[in-house]
Amino acid sequence: MTERSALSRAKFLRLGSRIALGLAGILGLGGLVRFFSHSPETGSPTSFHLGPAAEFPPAGKLTRPDIPAVILKTAQGFQAFSLICTHLGCTLEEDSGGYSCPCHGSVFAEDGSVIKGPAREDLQILEVELTPEGELWVHKQGGEI
Ligand code: FES
Repeated sequence: MTERSALSRAKFLRLGSRIALGLAGILGLGGLVRFFSHSPETGSPTSFHLGPAAEFPPAGKLTRPDIPAVILKTAQGFQAFSLICTHLGCTLEEDSGGYSCPCHGSVFAEDGSVIKGPAREDLQILEVELTPEGELWVHKQGGEI
């Protein structure tokens, strides 16, 4: 092997390693840009369509586990409250006309008032909207219930 060909092999290896390092740097920089420009997803919805109010049964009750919430139709109109326990946030289960918490045993009445602790606060009341078109919506306040 001549001195000239050994030199060009060294140059070739040096150039190849620089190109490889450059590509790795570009890919790494692309990953950093993507990491820092990531915007979190918008999260869970805060408004839920319940359907036409006319189809709601008189003096009826609708449980929506996807919210989770209960919607009541009373003589005063529509009411809704969250089915998230006010103690530490577990999802409540329906239990003999009221709601019980599977986590630590709190019990709530059908109207959302706390009957037995450790929860101290009644269930959160949610906003119910009746549109001019007669459609019912429930809105979470601030996205949390
Ligand atoms: S989370 Fe419901 S009683 Fe603790």
